[in-house]
Amino acid sequence: MAHSEAFRKQRRKLLLTAAALGSLGTVGLLKPEANTAGHSGYFLSLQKALRENGLATPTLVIDRQRLGHNIAALKRRISGDFGYRIVAKSLPSLPLLRYVMAGTGTRKLMLFHQPSLNQVADALPDSDLLVGKPLPVACAARFYQQFATSSSQFNPAMQLQWLIDSEARLAEYQQLAAQLNQPLRVNLEIDIGLHRGGFSDQKSLAGVLTTIEQSPWLSFSGFMGYEPHVLKAPGPTEWLLEQAMARYQQFVDTAEHTLGRSISNLTLNTGGSTTFPLYQGRAGQVPANELAAGSALVMPTDFDVATLAGHQPAAFIATPVLKLLERTRIPGVPGLGRLQTLWNPNHARTAFIYGGYWKASPVSPPGLVTNGIYGRSTNQEMLNLADEVPLEVGDRVFLRPHQSEAVLLEFGDLAVFDASKGKITERWPVFERG
Ligand SMILES: Cc1ncc(COP(=O)(O)O)c(C=O)c1O
Repeated sequence: MAHSEAFRKQRRKLLLTAAALGSLGTVGLLKPEANTAGHSGYFLSLQKALRENGLATPTLVIDRQRLGHNIAALKRRISGDFGYRIVAKSLPSLPLLRYVMAGTGTRKLMLFHQPSLNQVADALPDSDLLVGKPLPVACAARFYQQFATSSSQFNPAMQLQWLIDSEARLAEYQQLAAQLNQPLRVNLEIDIGLHRGGFSDQKSLAGVLTTIEQSPWLSFSGFMGYEPHVLKAPGPTEWLLEQAMARYQQFVDTAEHTLGRSISNLTLNTGGSTTFPLYQGRAGQVPANELAAGSALVMPTDFDVATLAGHQPAAFIATPVLKLLERTRIPGVPGLGRLQTLWNPNHARTAFIYGGYWKASPVSPPGLVTNGIYGRSTNQEMLNLADEVPLEVGDRVFLRPHQSEAVLLEFGDLAVFDASKGKITERWPVFERG
């Protein structure tokens, strides 16, 4: 009896030790290793180009070759049968849009902000514009007011589609059209599973279409159904896509039934950067006839997804190191910096950079980390790095934006990097924020 008790105890001890060792092993696996690499040849060349141009404030760099690579990758996947609409908010610069329009051969743009709408209508008179969200009617009024002083050949009655998401908004736009004596084209936002608004039932859609048909001011120009949930929501992507397109088809069927004619010649928009590749080979099998995408051409980190595996990061924030400290020190808590370093050797040293706290993650040198305890700063942000990383005061560090739309507007003119020449070859102004 005593013997078996001792045996049980022994076994328990052994099991506990094994469990403890196991968790230590897991902890060991989780413990970060020092990343002592410096800039790759690519970033050294970009750093040199920035220096030669005297660009020593935080700068947003667009890599021309990589942009070209992404344009080619997108074109391969959006084959002839689908139209391509550039999401302008994600590429918010007129010269950048001109470059992408020329590279993809499209005039179609999707816009989300009234001041940008005016800038594009002024500067790109040949463009075909679809508003990507239902703007307050006051924005539409301001668009026409500002456009009245423009000398652009752009014709809003033919080249602009407003997005309408409800009967109430339709009534407001109709009233504006009558007031301005200005015919309006309206595209209807439909909910095909994202649940971000738009028409969700067939009955209200039929009513709205009848109102449009009977209005002397309005004409129906198509549907916009956005579906990024297809890739993100739980469930097989293929199935979610089929569900979304089946919903889209119901709206098309209702429209054709109500209007008594085919609408296949209208703008039937869907897609975004993460989902457009899923439509490859599906033209004619889905109701949509054009795909929207913008971010996929510059690849902020939020777009590191399987469907865009062939795309390359083409937008970087570059900013100089102002100060380098041999140890990381947290004010008021002596030794805490050292403790952080014991766990993660990439906290050993500190670089204070020009600016910071952007919606962006450091990418080069590759071991750079932010310090959550010290805190973030938009003025001089602390970044940490391992002991052996070759980095000096005046060197640049590089970050990748998480999203492009707001971040690309924060740095003044974009710096266009031509990697084949190792030079900054152009500066591209960004949209005025208005
Ligand atoms: C209506 C609509 N279509 C398409 C997109 C896709 O934009 P991107 O390709 O930059 O992700 C967006 C992004 O917010 C959107 O709101």
